[in-house]
Order: sequence, then structure tokens, then C-alpha cells
Amino acid sequence: MPSALPDGEPMPEDGALPPHALAGAGDRPLGFYLHVPYCATRCGYCDFNTYTATELRGSGGVLASRENYADTLADEVRLARKVLGDDPRPVRTVFVGGGTPTLLPAAHLVRMLAAVRDEFGLAPDAEVTTEANPESVDAAYLAELREGGFNRISFGMQSAKRHVLQVLDRTHTPGRPEACVAEARGAGFDHVNLDLIYGTPGESDDDWRDSLDAALGAGPDHVSAYALIVEEGTQLARRIRRGEVPMTDDDVHADRYLIADEVLAGAGFHWYEVSNWATSEAGRCLHNELYWRGADWWGAGPGAHSHVGGVRWWNVKHPGAYAAALAAGRSPGAGRELLSAEDRRVERILLELRLAEGAPLELLAEQGLAASRRALADGLLEAGPYREGRAVLTLRGRLLADAVVRDLVD
Ligand SMILES: C[S@@+](CC[C@H](N)C(=O)[O-])C[C@H]1O[C@@H](n2cnc3c(N)ncnc32)[C@H](O)[C@@H]1O
Ligand code: SF4
Repeated sequence: MPSALPDGEPMPEDGALPPHALAGAGDRPLGFYLHVPYCATRCGYCDFNTYTATELRGSGGVLASRENYADTLADEVRLARKVLGDDPRPVRTVFVGGGTPTLLPAAHLVRMLAAVRDEFGLAPDAEVTTEANPESVDAAYLAELREGGFNRISFGMQSAKRHVLQVLDRTHTPGRPEACVAEARGAGFDHVNLDLIYGTPGESDDDWRDSLDAALGAGPDHVSAYALIVEEGTQLARRIRRGEVPMTDDDVHADRYLIADEVLAGAGFHWYEVSNWATSEAGRCLHNELYWRGADWWGAGPGAHSHVGGVRWWNVKHPGAYAAALAAGRSPGAGRELLSAEDRRVERILLELRLAEGAPLELLAEQGLAASRRALADGLLEAGPYREGRAVLTLRGRLLADAVVRDLVD
């Protein structure tokens, strides 16, 4: 089952926020994340909050059904309108993620987007993305999304190699994600991302190069490349424990990251976050940038997390419990945290240090500053930006990003 929610204080029944959360809201961009918690089958490595039809059978009944989901989610968008009151901000980004959003008919995704547009209005240049699984879309589906207002799409490619896709339990065939990019371009999508995973047991350096080449050959303007994380409680973790597949290896991950950066940079892509590369500034994922820069976002859907003005909250995880709360006129929020100034400082370091622009040194406390001087001497931080007061990771620093970040938050 997917991972647990954090602890926290209870959420008020009406979802109301403390007044300080809304102070100055007009100066911060607002984004919406819309979660779709359904998948046809579960990939062995994935612990996202998503459910197959079998997992839902007998729990949640009609309330948890896919057919009603778009309307249920629209109820939460209307709740968001009430909670945010006369906040005049038009929405800057909408990101539909999952799960597999494209298991729903395109018209349902368009309806979910329309709920945001009707309640809040969209900024004229709003970025509107959906994730899509390659096997679950075709040209007509993509055209319907484009006509309905989506302008960015993110396909879960993961690998171009059949044996790697098999270990990952992916159901699409090699070549299908690349065909999806062509179909998305044909439908008029301005921005197309491919998600890749490296370090899968059984993948070689050459396999990884082939996957990168295949992805680039398709012509996306954005690539996300993630090291395979073996999440506790997943089928993959059990298979590794039983010795059926080898454990992933940190050295292999580092080598694959270097290959990714070399191949992507050679094709004109620039890293702008440790795991994300784009061909231009316009190709970056603005929605993720809102997360990384501590802006406001409302996450709607089971298990979705939100953040507004230093208040972070999360919804109940099960689609049945989620729908039941909204049907009863209650907030689906399960708990919340009011972030202190210190929490926000630490969070800024954690997130901004992973960006190509880096984190301002003034965020660091005494020990963190001393650690940053050591990181600079060790070649983990760039010297030029450091002189100008910013901690920016070098390529070697990006390989060790988690460790550098841990040292700098002290
Ligand atoms: C949660 S998925 C949703 C998108 C879509 N369902 C898909 O699988 O293509 C978003 C991305 O997270 C990445 N991901 C999920 N679990 C991961 C893991 N355990 N390790 C590394 N990347 C992971 C995959 O690249 C995936 O495309
Ligand atoms: S399709 Fe995506 S969300 Fe669904 S189980 Fe696989 S990785 Fe997770």
C-alpha cells in the first residue's frame, strides 16, 4: 500500500485557514495540483497514492468510482474557492497527476480543469499540464485535451529497453512513448516532457544511453530523469529482499547521472533542478517551480498535499473516505502543520539548493555556513556564485545533492 501520511494537528471541518496564511497572498503565485488516484495495474516500484480496480473493490463503493471522480474533485475546487475567499489571484499553473490521469476519459480531465477556471480564472499564460501513460492515450485523446485547454503533457517513458520496462512492470511497448510525443506535437502541445528512470536492476550504461537517445530523438523540450528509489512496502522491495533481482547501487546511479547530464547537455538541454532538464526557460515546468520556491498551491484529491502562506495540509488517502467527506460537506483534509519561520528557512534550503539558481547563503546558520565553506573547498559548490552569496551545486555536488543539503541545513 502507498506510504503513510505525516502526523499533524487536526484540520477544521470546514477547511478554514488561519488569517495569517492569506495575508499578502496577492503577491504569491497560486497553482493547483489535481490528483487522479487510479492505475490499470501497479508498477512494482511505485508507492504513490493510487489504486487499481482490484484494490478498490469492496472498499469505498460507488463513491470511490472513477466515473464520479471528476465531479467529486470539482467539489473540492469549490471548497477551495470558499476557503480562499475573495483572493483575487488567477491560477498560474494546473498540474493533473497521478496515478494515471489518462485512465479517465479526456472529457473528465477537461471538466476538472473547467472547475478551476470557473471558480478562480486562469492567468492568460497559465501552464496546464497532465501526466499521461503512453499506453492510455491516442491522437484523438490528445487532441481533445489540447482543445480543452491543456498545453503541456508529461509522458511516463522510464526506459526504451524492453527488459528494463519488464523489471519495472511497465505495460507499454518500447517506441510507444516516442510516438506519443509526435502525437502530442501534432495535437498542438507546446511543451512535452518525458520521465525516465535510471539504475533499474539489469540496466547497463549502454541501455541507459539508448533510452536517453530514444527520448531525445522524439523531440521533447523537457526531460526528468530519476534514480530508481526502492520504496519500502513495494513489490520491487520484496523481490530484492527475496534475491530475485539485485539491489540498486549508488555508484551505478552516480555514473548514470553523469551520462544523463552529458547526453542531455550535448543535445542542448540545461539542468534547472537536479533531476530536471529543459531546452529553454519556457520549457521548464513552472508548476514544479512553484513548489520549489515555496509559492501557494492547492492539492485536490485523495492524499494530495497543499501549501498556502506557511500552512501545509494533506487530504485523507483513500478515494472512498475522500469522496465521503466532500459528500458530507466537510473538508477532506486529514491534518495540517503551521510552519514556523525556522521550518520555512530549512525548507527553502532543502528545495532551493537543488535548483540551478541555488540558495542564498544568507539562509544558512553558522554551522551550515561552515559546511558550505567545506563544500566549496571540496568542489561541491560553484566558486563564482559563492562569491556573490549563492550556494550553487557543481556537477559533483549534484551527484551528492542529498548529503550536501543535509550538511547545509545544520
Ligand atoms: C507517479 S508517476 C505518475 C505518472 C504516470 N502514472 C507514469 O507512471 O508514467 C510520476 C513519475 O514518478 C517516477 N517514479 C515513480 N516512482 C518512482 C520510484 N520509486 N523511483 C524513481 N522514480 C519514480 C516515474 O518516472 C513516473 O513517471
Ligand atoms: S502507472 Fe505511474 S502512478 Fe501508476 S503505478 Fe505505475 S508509476 Fe505508479
